[in-house]
Amino acid sequence: MARKLWAVRGLAALATGAMALSLAACGGGGAGGAGAGGAGGAPAQAEEGGLVGVAMPTETSERWIADGDAVQSGLEKAGYDVDLQFAGDDIPTQQQQVDQMITKGAKALIIAAIDGTALQSQLDAAAAEGIPVISYDRLIRDSKNVDFYVSFDNYQVGVQQGTSLLTGLGLLDENGEKAADAPKGPLNVELFAGSPDDNNAGFFFDGAMSVIQPYIDDKTIVVPSKQTDFDTVATLRWEQERAQKRMEDLLTSSYNGGEEVDGVLSPYDGLSRGIITALQNEGYGKGDKAMPIITGQDAEIASVKLIDDGVQYSTIFKDTRLLAEQAVTATQDFLSGKEPEANNTTDYDNGVKVVPSYLLDSVIVDKDNIKSALVDTGYWTEEEVASGQAD
Ligand code: GAL
Repeated sequence: MARKLWAVRGLAALATGAMALSLAACGGGGAGGAGAGGAGGAPAQAEEGGLVGVAMPTETSERWIADGDAVQSGLEKAGYDVDLQFAGDDIPTQQQQVDQMITKGAKALIIAAIDGTALQSQLDAAAAEGIPVISYDRLIRDSKNVDFYVSFDNYQVGVQQGTSLLTGLGLLDENGEKAADAPKGPLNVELFAGSPDDNNAGFFFDGAMSVIQPYIDDKTIVVPSKQTDFDTVATLRWEQERAQKRMEDLLTSSYNGGEEVDGVLSPYDGLSRGIITALQNEGYGKGDKAMPIITGQDAEIASVKLIDDGVQYSTIFKDTRLLAEQAVTATQDFLSGKEPEANNTTDYDNGVKVVPSYLLDSVIVDKDNIKSALVDTGYWTEEEVASGQAD
């Protein structure tokens, strides 16, 4: 599907981006020492090229395929060989893949973990070899051997999801101010969160609830299922089918007396599609039974079409091309003996240390700005939006 396209897109983004792919990683000498070891010790010098291991969680979501391809093409352009692996959302598979990358002599590792707590022994082995580890999008937890984190401002992503839900419900206007003609409510809203073993999921949920909770407190919003705590609303492995099943159960248990769902906080497009299926099966979106306001994340093409068609309300666009650039830049820095530039050194405590981070911004996308945010930036073409499929 999008694999080839994304490779090309990744290259285009890398070429046009501000990233100076300066091939700084030249100069001979051992690589990686400064990265894994951090400050102290003799400054490491970089060898030209070499192998970089890139571990991605799954190919079932198009975003990770796009991420993998963009990181791979950026690294190759910078002169590295790449071992790119997807783990089918299976933790032992990812552990084994990372072990093998180390055995094959990877000089740096870029890892988007399935379970953020399950890679300690791999990271210990990497540190023993002086291999710098870059945690990609999801923070790897409980290990001191994580050297850098590239991601988006995950709490802000959650704030955007919550804000968009409130806007869709008519409670906020387009400037984020309390709407003059806001409905009094009570509005029926259900809450979903991501995978509990993904460090991001809590950030998304907390960010969203920071803006939604006041409306629950003043009873403008009610949650008929009463399921409001993270552990109850979390969705293991971010699975679409699991979200569909939970939405079906909620409809059966809490909406069996003629009540209707007005809004659903969903943290990821895949979950949103499962939620939509459950709602459609119960007649939502037909006649006068309107589809609730449903949020999302990742601007996956199938969901962008649903937004364009007025089925899903919004998504959060995180430009994975820029994230890939940051990962490549950080790799080059480590392998040339430099500390990568961080723009956040306070928020991402992995349980053992605060990991220096580079966080990117995200954008709320609804029907009105699909073109400016996604088409004009070259993320998706108009044809892809119309068909709901990547070319
Ligand atoms: C998160 C990521 C989201 C989404 C989700 C499901 O870690 O930050 O953008 O992709 O995983 O894959």
